[in-house]
Amino acid sequence: MYIGVDYYPEHWPSNRWTTDADLMAEAGFNIARLAEFAWVDMEPVEGEFEFGWLDEALSILGKRNISAILGTPTAVMPAWMAHQYPETLAMQKDGTRIVWGVRKNNCFTSSVYRKRSERITLAMAEHFAQTPNVIGWQTDNEFGQPYCYCDECRGGFQTWLQRKYGSLDELNRAWGNHFWGQKVQGWDEIVIPVDDSTYNPSACLDWRRFFSWLNVSFQRDQVNILRKICPTHFITHNFMGLFKGLNYYELATDLDFVSWDNYPKLGVTPQIRYDASLSADVMRGLKGKNFWIMEQTAGAPGWATFGRNPRPGEIRSIAYQQLAHGADGNLWFRWRTCTAGREQYWHGLLGHDGRPLRRYDEAAQVAHEYHRLAPELEGTTIKADVAIIYDYESLWALDIQPGYSNPEGNNVGQDAIKRYYQALFRAGVNVDMVPPSADLTPYKLVLAPHLYILSDTIAEHLNAYVRAGGVLLTDCRTAVKDETSLCYDRTLPGKLSEMLGISIEEYEAVIGEYPLTMSGDLGPFTATHYADWVHTTGADVLASYASWHLADYAAVTRHRFGKGWGWYVGTVVKETKFYDWLAAGLLNQASISPIVTPPAGVEVSLRERQDQKLLFLLNHTEQPQDMVIPEGCYDLLKDIMCGDRLHLDRYGVAILKVG
Ligand code: GLA
Ligand code: ZN
Repeated sequence: MYIGVDYYPEHWPSNRWTTDADLMAEAGFNIARLAEFAWVDMEPVEGEFEFGWLDEALSILGKRNISAILGTPTAVMPAWMAHQYPETLAMQKDGTRIVWGVRKNNCFTSSVYRKRSERITLAMAEHFAQTPNVIGWQTDNEFGQPYCYCDECRGGFQTWLQRKYGSLDELNRAWGNHFWGQKVQGWDEIVIPVDDSTYNPSACLDWRRFFSWLNVSFQRDQVNILRKICPTHFITHNFMGLFKGLNYYELATDLDFVSWDNYPKLGVTPQIRYDASLSADVMRGLKGKNFWIMEQTAGAPGWATFGRNPRPGEIRSIAYQQLAHGADGNLWFRWRTCTAGREQYWHGLLGHDGRPLRRYDEAAQVAHEYHRLAPELEGTTIKADVAIIYDYESLWALDIQPGYSNPEGNNVGQDAIKRYYQALFRAGVNVDMVPPSADLTPYKLVLAPHLYILSDTIAEHLNAYVRAGGVLLTDCRTAVKDETSLCYDRTLPGKLSEMLGISIEEYEAVIGEYPLTMSGDLGPFTATHYADWVHTTGADVLASYASWHLADYAAVTRHRFGKGWGWYVGTVVKETKFYDWLAAGLLNQASISPIVTPPAGVEVSLRERQDQKLLFLLNHTEQPQDMVIPEGCYDLLKDIMCGDRLHLDRYGVAILKVG
């Protein structure tokens, strides 16, 4: 179990380094990430390397059994680079280059930049290959920005399109370039679409694919060097949870495991950290395996203004939430709050004064607990019965054309996923977030919300899952478009119609609200944002619209197909309780029963291996919570046998060895 901090020795006088390392060791830390922004410190003059300072810092850490992850430093180019090679700075839409001085400001196509990225990576790899406590690498830092509109990127985009489509006829067809006379007759006529709301949606989608591919290929250059020179080291990257600017499945392909940076919003009052759980599950889904937290919340975050301080117990609870979802490593960002630069107020475990106080003590407590838990956790992961399909291409296409408006301006697809995910969270079941092509046979229940881009192959994959006995829920805006973002010339939901037993004759963005009618004493529930006018062709109606003009149409349906069931929700329902009702129905239909029914505000997650089931319970509220648990559990943190009830303090955590 690796637990430690993100450490910047270059920010402090070297006579402080032993104090830092001593304090880390006392806290039980055994890992530090270093150097991801220190390019100029390692290559002060182009082609001349200086690693002495880092050798010294690493050796001080090594003497205290603290291992190290080194970052390739390419997220911040040295001033000399921008000065000597201005073409390495990304070009903005207006044709001017980014002004050097922040970070993430490079063009990823620039051959000048890429050669220098490879050179510093090679120099670091060769220098640190034999350093005993260096165990792994982080590529760059938080890939995802910036778009660059320079001629080299435009040329790269054209070449990428040529490879993808082969002929201009095919590109013109795939993009629907007959519209507005957009037919191109030479590859060099193609431009970068500069605006999602006015340019051709197919071109916008391919630009995102290209940019994602570009980042992956930039990373691959570094990975190839590191693999060759440091074959025993692991390679990871710090992802950003729900960030969707890149196809994270592809970015993860070349890596040994995924790690990510977790900064949950610290609300005025304590809030259930739904997004941190969902992010963790998305991160675990990228490679279908456990992940690390490369940057964990250590204090109040902020660049100009800062938020509130984590309250006593909250640092611990934030860490445990990730452990519960499959984190096998945890590094707090950052060790000590820096006294200089833009992140002076992004607080670390230590304050500006460098004293080990409350936040340090809490992290040290977590570290000591993690080490004690390590043998129990070894080899455990989440084995969910439920999967939600998480597809970057559909999310991108929905960014480009959401269809209906979302007051918060969020991605409508991500918001749909959150509605279902949060209901399943409240029901106390684990969820795997998987790509559309994932093998669905391990799951009893699959949700495919807003699967806007749906190829015929994936549609058949979903139908086959239901035919064989699976329970599938899908909803509005699914199956609307093909892979190049052309609308299908079919009645919706296209290839899913037979499986769902419905046909969507018309649809609309809802201005205002439509009350829903349900059987029994459920509700009242209200349709908002969007409504499919669903005509049933065999499905049962679970909810319909009360409005006179929609009297003939269904809002929520369920259909027996083969050995399974296809559920459909054609609208966005205002009330959270609707989703709780829906989740209960789906879980029941799929014969999934949660191990415990958590009280409101308590999160449940199960990590397991063949001979072991560890039930995590986390109280996200500031009130103590009491709950019923299965008998015969062993409380690993308290080291006691439990009865049939569990008490959790505010922000309390329990890990129960079940049965
Ligand atoms: C990101 C970066 C860090 C740091 C933090 C806080 O996650 O990776 O370098 O900038 O945000 O701003
Ligand atoms: Zn460029």
